[in-house]
Amino acid sequence: MKKKTIIVLVCIFALLLTGCGIEKVKLPAQKDVTSKNIKDVFSEHGMKVGTCISANVINDKKMSALVLEQFNSVTMENAMKPDYILNQKRSQAEGKLVVEFNQEAISVLSWAKDNGLSVRGHTLIWYSQTPEWIFHEGFDTKSAYVGRDEMLLRMESLISGVFKGLDRLGYIDLFYAYDVINEAWMEDGTIRKNHWTETIGDDYLWYAFYYADKYAPESIDLYYNDYNEQYKADTLSAFVNTLKGDDDRFMIDGIGLQAHLFTSDDIVGYLEAVDSLSETGLKLEVTELDIGLGKYQSPLSATDANLRTQGKFYYELINDLFERADSGKVNMDSVTFWGFSDGISWRREYSPQLYDSDLDPKYSLYGVLQIKEYSGY
Ligand code: GLA
Repeated sequence: MKKKTIIVLVCIFALLLTGCGIEKVKLPAQKDVTSKNIKDVFSEHGMKVGTCISANVINDKKMSALVLEQFNSVTMENAMKPDYILNQKRSQAEGKLVVEFNQEAISVLSWAKDNGLSVRGHTLIWYSQTPEWIFHEGFDTKSAYVGRDEMLLRMESLISGVFKGLDRLGYIDLFYAYDVINEAWMEDGTIRKNHWTETIGDDYLWYAFYYADKYAPESIDLYYNDYNEQYKADTLSAFVNTLKGDDDRFMIDGIGLQAHLFTSDDIVGYLEAVDSLSETGLKLEVTELDIGLGKYQSPLSATDANLRTQGKFYYELINDLFERADSGKVNMDSVTFWGFSDGISWRREYSPQLYDSDLDPKYSLYGVLQIKEYSGY
């Protein structure tokens, strides 16, 4: 091997050892900075605060302790999506779509119940993570697609099956909100074409809320949830106005703002969309908050400077939301983060969360806790 090659290899190895040359700046421990946990801060503004969760998190001592300490609400990252709650064999045997919660959902729900956590339901009707077989005759992908009437019956079975199932299992009271539909609208204002539109038609959206309103208990608010909401405010405002029942009453209670943001995003523009969605008169919840370093498909590395920018972004965003909730300008009762640790985030290459992969606090944690001194300023 040439001397030059050896030097390059040694440098690469050294960089890998030191986390690609980025020295971690260790911030003081949360308990040394404040006696408040995240949920204490949100309670002061009348809000719940949550994280998404999986069985892996509750089975890990350190992570589950952190969740119980900091949050009072959870959303299942995957375990209650259509892919995970429908049973093909039983559907074929019974000739109707059968909901059956899997072991992960049951274990997380029972953990939430034992520990007094509230739950956001996610999600009933979606174009993604939904089994293909539910759209076919005989619940068999080799057969043709079913027609509109049969698919409406299946949609009703799915929605009633979820609420009846949760009731039967004794978990229904944990839920305060449920995403009835996820991600149905495109940025250009058109409806996303998918198997629901193909089999039922565009009014599948109205029927989903009709059935959810019919089967969900009053205590569960029904949500439409979407991403890139800052570019969809006009579309979504017009859409929710169509979700009225025979008595002209809204069948929807709120709009879920996923808030998968980037540090390059414009906070002012984002808040304008929040304000405009709030003018619908519906509740708003932030449902999947994370703020990635950089921009879409261009992550920035976790340098001290970039992490400070992120900390300030979290500080400002949360501060602006608190102001809106406190003044009554926005009716917001919860904020959910899509995770808490960069190590297990779905967007980990963007380091978007409040704790790093060692579960050490980041500027973003102190931003959320509204402690300006450690938020990166
Ligand atoms: C969307 C969905 C979430 C999740 C994320 C990726 O935002 O609503 O359920 O799938 O994508 O984790």
